[in-house]
Amino acid sequence: ASAVIANPHADLAEIMPSLPTAPGFPPYRLRRYGGFWHTDLYLKFIGASHACFKPRPTDVLLASFPKTGTTWLKALAFSALNRAAHPPSVGADHPLHRNSPHDLVRFLELADQDDDGLIYEEIPSPRLLATHVPYSLLPRGITGTKDGSGGRIVYVCRDPKDTFVSFWHYHEKTTATLQRMADVGGASAAMPTFEEAFELFCQGQSVAGPQWRHTLEYWEASRRSPDQGLFLRYEDMLLDPSGSLMKLAAFMACPFSPEEEAAGVVRDIVELCSLGTLKGLEVNRRGSTMLGLKNEAFFRNGTVGDWSNCMTPAMAARLDGIVAEALQGSMLTF
Ligand code: A3P
Repeated sequence: ASAVIANPHADLAEIMPSLPTAPGFPPYRLRRYGGFWHTDLYLKFIGASHACFKPRPTDVLLASFPKTGTTWLKALAFSALNRAAHPPSVGADHPLHRNSPHDLVRFLELADQDDDGLIYEEIPSPRLLATHVPYSLLPRGITGTKDGSGGRIVYVCRDPKDTFVSFWHYHEKTTATLQRMADVGGASAAMPTFEEAFELFCQGQSVAGPQWRHTLEYWEASRRSPDQGLFLRYEDMLLDPSGSLMKLAAFMACPFSPEEEAAGVVRDIVELCSLGTLKGLEVNRRGSTMLGLKNEAFFRNGTVGDWSNCMTPAMAARLDGIVAEALQGSMLTF
């Protein structure tokens, strides 16, 4: 069931230097491949993972475009899946009290690719993994099967206007650190103004961009195979966190029993994973992720419509128009 399928991107490492490059937002050097913009780090992952990643039917992959609710989804999924070993009850010790959600659920693409994927092999089943890589560029073992052997994918989407504004604030806190890291390739890139960053975002020139295309692929996949793909919306999750968590748990094959619900387990997980709780924890106020990014950069105000505090109505209309045009003919709306 976990046979490795041929790697359609085997020559990616060789052709990488010849791919079209452009400045992006955040200001890293991006290369275009497969219709999306990527950092070199992502391209290396795409090239290598097809050869070495062996999916398991019990895998759950949390997929998202950056700044759309990844951190929250990681916290919720981790807490739901591990609630027997780590009860979320108030006052109890919990891994989320000491670790960023990003260190509890790792991004596939940030694993060291030099170890032939062994890092994935060591994680016990059911594995919870995350990715920002577009659906069409995921390892074929995940996406190329219809019998469930590739595991399940949960995707979270968010209004591109709020995504961009969230990205802007995140960039202010992290770009200097990220630019010092290898593979980002943007060490000399100038910091863009808000307007310049917005233009780049509109052109799709952001990590894994354009966002609307990223979302459309996952949305279509979830419509084709609802048993293998769950499509969530950040805005709906904020409106009904308990209902969203229950949907997520059922999809991950660990539904809450009526007894658990009555005992307040759903409520406790929602509370534990709320922005207020996570943001206030010492680990998220002062700690850094394994990659060296400040944990606090991932927690801001978590609202719907914050774009209106930063963008002019004309900017909003322009982005809405670009998205609507790109999604024409599909049934997806943001
Ligand atoms: P804002 O910048 O709009 O506040 P990602 O996790 O994909 O990087 O997305 C970050 C966004 O999710 C930020 O949005 C952040 O505040 C919000 N967020 C992080 N943790 C959250 C939580 N537990 N509940 C709700 N939103 C959260």
